[in-house]
Order: sequence, then C-alpha cells, then structure tokens
Amino acid sequence: MCECMAPSLDARQDMAVVEVPKLGKEAATKAIKEWGQPKSKITHLVFCSISGVDMPGADYQLTKLLGLHPSVKRLMMYQQGCFAGGTALRLAKDLAENNKGARVLVVCSEITALIFRGPSDSHLDSLIAQSVFGDGAAAVIIGSDLIPEVEKPLFELVSTAQTILPDSDGAIEGHLREVGLIIHILKDVPKLISENIEKSLVEAFKPLGISDWNSLFWIAHPGGPAILDQVEKKLALMPEKLKPTRHVFSEYGNVSSACVLFIMDEMRKSSAKNGLKTTGQGLEWGVLFGFGPGITIETVVLHSVST
Ligand SMILES: CC(C)(COP(=O)(O)OP(=O)(O)OC[C@H]1O[C@@H](n2cnc3c(N)ncnc32)[C@H](O)[C@@H]1OP(=O)(O)O)[C@@H](O)C(=O)NCCC(=O)NCCS
Repeated sequence: MCECMAPSLDARQDMAVVEVPKLGKEAATKAIKEWGQPKSKITHLVFCSISGVDMPGADYQLTKLLGLHPSVKRLMMYQQGCFAGGTALRLAKDLAENNKGARVLVVCSEITALIFRGPSDSHLDSLIAQSVFGDGAAAVIIGSDLIPEVEKPLFELVSTAQTILPDSDGAIEGHLREVGLIIHILKDVPKLISENIEKSLVEAFKPLGISDWNSLFWIAHPGGPAILDQVEKKLALMPEKLKPTRHVFSEYGNVSSACVLFIMDEMRKSSAKNGLKTTGQGLEWGVLFGFGPGITIETVVLHSVST
C-alpha cells in the first residue's frame, strides 16, 4: 500500500470490508441515542460509502452489528463519492414521505484505506486527494410525521435536486483497480463548480422567492479549500457563510459523503451554544450542496427549526 502502484486491493479490501460497517456503527449508535427511540422503530437503512464493496454489503453488516430488525429495508450506495451525503438525504426523504411511519437511518461511513498510496511525480492529483481526504462517519434518522414531544427535529428537508455539470466529463473520477481506488481530479474543478453553482441555487430557491444567497445558511461539501474560495468569491458570500464548512474541513478533512452531515451537526450545535433561535445560525432557510464525481451536484433546500 505504501508504493504508488503495487497490487494491493486484497489487503485494502480486508480492512475496508470490516472497518466501514464498524465505523458506521459508532455514528449510528450516537444518532439513535440522541433520537431516544427504540431501534425497533427503524424501518429503513440507507448506507453510503466509497469503500468496502462486498456481498452481502456494509448495510447487512451494520444491520447485524446494531441488532436492527432483520426486516429493515436496506439500500446500499457504494462508490458514489463526495456528493453522496446529499443523495442519501434525498433518498431517505423520498422513502420517509412515501411510507407512513417510516424512520430511515442514514449512515455515511468513509475510510481512506482504498486511496492511501505512496507519492509519484506523475500522479499529483492522487496526492492531492490524499492530502484533503479523511476518515469519518455520520448518521441521522429521517422521518416525515414527527411525533411531537417525543422526537426533536434538527432540520427540515424541503426539496432536493441532482444534476451533472456541463462540460465536466472526467473532472473528478475514481477507478477501482488492483492497486486500490485511483482518484483523478482536474485542476479545473473549483472553476467548474463555482461557475455553475448559481444555476442550482436559482432553480432551488426561485419557488421560495429567495435570490439573496447571503440570506441563507450554508452547508457546502468541502472538496478542497480552492472550491470554497471560488464559490465564496463568485457568489459574493460573506466570510461567515462558509465558516461551519471550513471549520469541519480544518478539523476532519474531506470525509467524503459524511461531510455535509458533519456540517449540519456543527451548525445546529453551535447555533444552540451561541443562543441563536434556529438550528440554522438563527436563519430560516439554508442550502446543502454535495459536489463529487461527474461532476455531480446534489442540492438540498433546508428549513431550520427552533433550537
Ligand atoms: C489541492 C489544494 C488544496 C491545494 O491548494 P494550495 O496549497 O493553496 O495550492 P494551489 O491551489 O495553488 O495548488 C498548488 C499546486 O498544485 C497544482 N494543482 C492543484 N490542483 C491540481 C490537480 N487537481 N491536479 C494537478 N495539479 C494540481 C496547482 O496547479 C499548483 O501547481 P503549481 O505550483 O505548479 O502552479 C487546492 O488546489 C484545492 O482545494 N483544490 C481542489 C481540490 C478538489 O478538486 N477536490 C475535489 C474532491 S471532491
């Protein structure tokens, strides 16, 4: 694994297949504890990870590790990449709204065992991926018919969208080979995202009559500092808008699909700590963006709740 291109997939898989569900369990256990309901009430599981492709998958292993009901309805999302925290929320929202009483456990668990490798002058983008990526897991429970006084909401998921950016073919790719997962990132990624992001904002917020992006709270996937810098500049965002996003990146790195859930957690906790009246920094409406392979952008319109 410490060479740049040595066959090493078996060794990497031996780690990832075991550790991805285990790390997911840590996050899921905390989420279920805070939710405060018996785990028998979980009806669906959406599990997301770049690593550890296996049969049965990490969703099955987590069901066993957590002691969920064997009839929990599972969905496993492997190798989607960094936008997939938004995808998992979108799928969970649809499941919750279309199945009465559903409680969907979303778990994003990411480890870097598939991408870690020695440096090479000819694979600078692989080194860049390693320098920004980190390990981490996050979990949340999603439902559409809140039980008042029993369940305490964190945010409302109002609408969702997914799109492929124009002229972005090959800008972010990952290929699973004998040598592990090879990441390709073009230099243009920050430019491609920053030049196209406003279209997604307009489509998401036009129905709400919102066009001032500084009036929103922001949860943006921190793919790398250059992406955040260019988005901030292009949209003339006030520096505090991306503060929770930058904080999570500086503390944990790019934990892929789990990042946006880390930022949601950071935001609602810091909002309460600072005496702000909503989980979204005192604001009502917010945006969550996932960026990743494709380039794919995942957009979620969020509504905050009282702290
Ligand atoms: C990688 C990064 C953290 C480095 O930031 P930095 O230290 O401020 O430095 P720079 O952005 O100026 O880049 C440093 C060098 O790396 C090069 N570089 C940056 N991104 C590169 C890429 N994807 N492929 C090859 N080279 C790259 C730059 O051209 C520069 O080279 P130079 O000194 O010869 O001009 C920053 O460029 C970044 O955030 N990039 C976006 C990462 C990304 O796309 N993530 C998506 C994952 S979902």
